[in-house]
Formats: sequence, structure tokens, C-alpha cells
Amino acid sequence: MDTFVIDGGRRLKGRLTVSGSKNASLPIMAAALLTDQPLTLHDVPDLRDLANMRGLLGELGCDVQYEGNLTRLQVVDESASHARYEIVRTMRASICILGPMLARRKRARISMPGGCAIGDRPVDLHLRGLRALGADIRLDGGDIIAQADELTGTTIFLGGPAGSTVLGTANVMSAATLARGTTVIECAACEPEIVNLAETLTAMGARIEGAGTPRITIHGVRELGPAEVRIMPDRIEAGTYMLASAITNGQVTIDNCPLDALLALLDRLDEVGVGVTRTDRAQGADRCTVMVESSRRLNPVQVTTQPHPGFPTDLQAQIMALLCLADGNSIITERIYEQRFLHVAELGRMGAVLHRQGPTVVVSGVPKLVGAPVMASDLRASACLVLAGLAAQGRTIINRVYHLDRGYQRMEERLRQLGAAIERVDEEEVAADASARVAAPR
Ligand code: EPZ
Repeated sequence: MDTFVIDGGRRLKGRLTVSGSKNASLPIMAAALLTDQPLTLHDVPDLRDLANMRGLLGELGCDVQYEGNLTRLQVVDESASHARYEIVRTMRASICILGPMLARRKRARISMPGGCAIGDRPVDLHLRGLRALGADIRLDGGDIIAQADELTGTTIFLGGPAGSTVLGTANVMSAATLARGTTVIECAACEPEIVNLAETLTAMGARIEGAGTPRITIHGVRELGPAEVRIMPDRIEAGTYMLASAITNGQVTIDNCPLDALLALLDRLDEVGVGVTRTDRAQGADRCTVMVESSRRLNPVQVTTQPHPGFPTDLQAQIMALLCLADGNSIITERIYEQRFLHVAELGRMGAVLHRQGPTVVVSGVPKLVGAPVMASDLRASACLVLAGLAAQGRTIINRVYHLDRGYQRMEERLRQLGAAIERVDEEEVAADASARVAAPR
């Protein structure tokens, strides 16, 4: 398995361009199942999760041509309806094919997604919403078996204990585009990725109002047609590199940055003392250029994760790495996935002082972090450890970086271009090197 070897202490300088959004691409690719017409997508990133989605759609009769910056999808065979466990277990976001399959093929069998490193990942809200539209859904042998002769629009409250559900909203909104009558989703997810999906469905002929607000109204239509759309920039990738610049006291310019989707992060960075300056003259703030640099002194702050537009849970681990070096105590509370703290123990191995009480971690700032061998556990925890390694004194070895490849395109190459001393090596190579050093005569 691949490992990152990072020699920390270098300030990042230079320029990078944000890729297309993984979390927007997944439900938008699934929307191809709503029609037999072509769906052409620009800026789908080259990530393992999307390769998995291409494989899943291929098994469901959707032809997918991936030519770098262009992804062309078109259903050629609608006879299949089973999303196999072997694929779903590698990517729980596979659940986002359920709504489109039900709406178009009237049936679907998909393995119940399991939990993952960040916690239980229930789908009860997805099923509640689809049942409200008239679907018959039962569980059998670990599979969700859904069918519906016809879906009928209705008003659905889709809120759960942590508020809204992103992929649950995507599933119900997608299914409702072909339902008879009007559907109102109350407590809908407001994430920008839902807006990007609604833009795509609208381009395909759907009639949707209120995407981006807690109440989305969908007027069902008979069928959807072809469309060509652009995937929004990945706000979590952008935020991760902004934090990489800040933690290394760097000066990084970021192009194609979805600034207006990152206002909660900007609010925290401003209080910490990290400067984010817009340097382009374009009109909108959905794709702009910013320069990120931090003052040497970082102020401690309070961070609580919430559904959008609140602070994103997907940046919680990364800002924790930054706050390990702040002058004082910060408080981070995780309200979306209360177990999303596997990075805490690993940061502790690097000299961070962290005290966890349930969903809250007190981060006592320290003057420096020290490089150490650490273990990546999930996508965003891995990114956190990379950031910590970039700032730490000495060498950090991050094992199991395959987690990173799910959500970050060639991270080590892009960080090297910014001046980081980071290599991707095979873990056997690292072990051999370590034992050679131990065996070497003193
Ligand atoms: C999306 O997951 C993202 N993934 C996640 O990003 C992100 O962390 C999450 O939204 C929250 O923002 C994709 O978009 C592919 P949810 P999703 O349904 O839709 C509870 C990453 O790192 N819930 O919004 O699966 C759930 O337990 C990934 O890129 C229910 O209770 O998340 C959680 O507490 C990780 N019942 C909260 O809602 C349900 O039926 C939010 O989950 C569904 C969710």
C-alpha cells in the first residue's frame, strides 16, 4: 500500500487550480439513469470514487466515456437493476443511484451501505422520502429492494437528528423530477452540490424551484432529455489547500476557487488571522482566484460543524491541524458525525495536545508539531495528517494514503509543485529503509 513521506517545515508558495467537485459529480453522474439521452459533464475529477461510480453505472447499462476533462454518459440498456455489494461496499455514495433508478426503471436493488470510519451512515431518510413518493421498499439479505409503478408528488419533511441529508435530498429530488404532480422537500440540504445537481436536472428538462434553500419544489415531468453541464469546483479540496497554505505560513494563489461556497471557512480563517485576498476581477464568486497567507501568530477559535451554510464537517479535521499551532485553546464541536475524530490520536502522536469530550475536542495550541509515523483512517483525516506533516519539524510517514486518492487528485504532485518535500512510496520501501537505518553501523 502507498505511503507518503513528508519532510516538514517548508512554506508553500505558488499557484494551483481547484478540480471539479467529487461530491457534486457523484449524484450528477447518477442522474444519467433518469433518461436514455446523453449527459455530457465538464470537469469531473480523476478520482477513485468516480472511477467506482463509472463501474457501477456501467453495470447498470450506462455507457460512460471518460476523456479527461469530458465525461459522456448515456444509458444503452435498462434491463439491469441490481447494484452489487462488491461495488457499494467500496463507496457508500452509491446510494445516490436509488432515486434515479426508481423513477426511471421503477425498480432497484442496492446493497445497504454499511458504516465507515467516520461513523454510522444510515439511509433511513432516503427510504422515508422515497416511500413518501409511493415506492414500496423492503430490506432483504442486506439489500434494499425498491419498486414503484408510479411515483406521486407529495410534501416530505426530510430532516434527521443532524438536520438535513445531502444525498438523501439528491435521491428524493432526482426521483421527484419524474413523479406525477408536485413534490415539496422541507428541510432539504442547502449544499452547493445540491444546487449543481438541480442545475443539471433543470438542463435535462426538470422543473425545480428553491434549490439551495431548505424548501425545494419539484414539478414532475414526463421525461428528461440530453444536457451538457459543468461540475462546480470542489469546495472541500479548495478549503484543504487554503489550510495547507495557512499551516505552512505560505503564500499560495488558488484558481477556480468556489469562494461563495466557503464563507463559513473564510469566517473562521479571518478570526484565526489567515488572510484570504481575492485577486481576480471576475464578477461572480463561484469560480475566482484568491491568495492565502497567514500571519505568524494564529489565534485560537471555536468551530462547530453544521449543515451548509454552516462550517462543513469535511473540513473539521483539516482546520484542527491548523489550530494545533494556534496561541491558545480552540474548541471544535462535530455536530454531523460525532465519531469523526480518528485523526485526534494521530495528531497526538505528532505532539498535538487535544482533549476530547464526546463531540467536542479542546485543541491546546503548541509551538510546534514533530514528524512521526501516523495512520490515515478516512479521506479527510488523511488530509489533516498531510497538513500536519507539512508543518511539522522532521519527517512524517503517513500510511494507507489510498484513502486520500478517493478525494484528492495527485495531492503529492500538487503539493510538491508548491515547494513541499513530499513523496509517495510503497510502504515496503519505507520499512526496508527504516530497517536499513537501524542495521547500519553507528
Ligand atoms: C455527504 O454525505 C458527503 N458525501 C459527505 O462527504 C459529507 O460529510 C456529508 O454529506 C455531510 O455534509 C457526498 O456528498 C458523496 P448526509 P451524505 O446524509 O449525504 C445523518 C467526504 O468526505 N443521516 O448529509 O451521506 C448522517 O448520519 C464525504 O467527501 C441520517 O440520519 O451525508 C449524518 O449525521 C464524507 N439518515 C447527517 O445525517 C439518513 O438517511 C448528514 O449526513 C442520512 C443521513
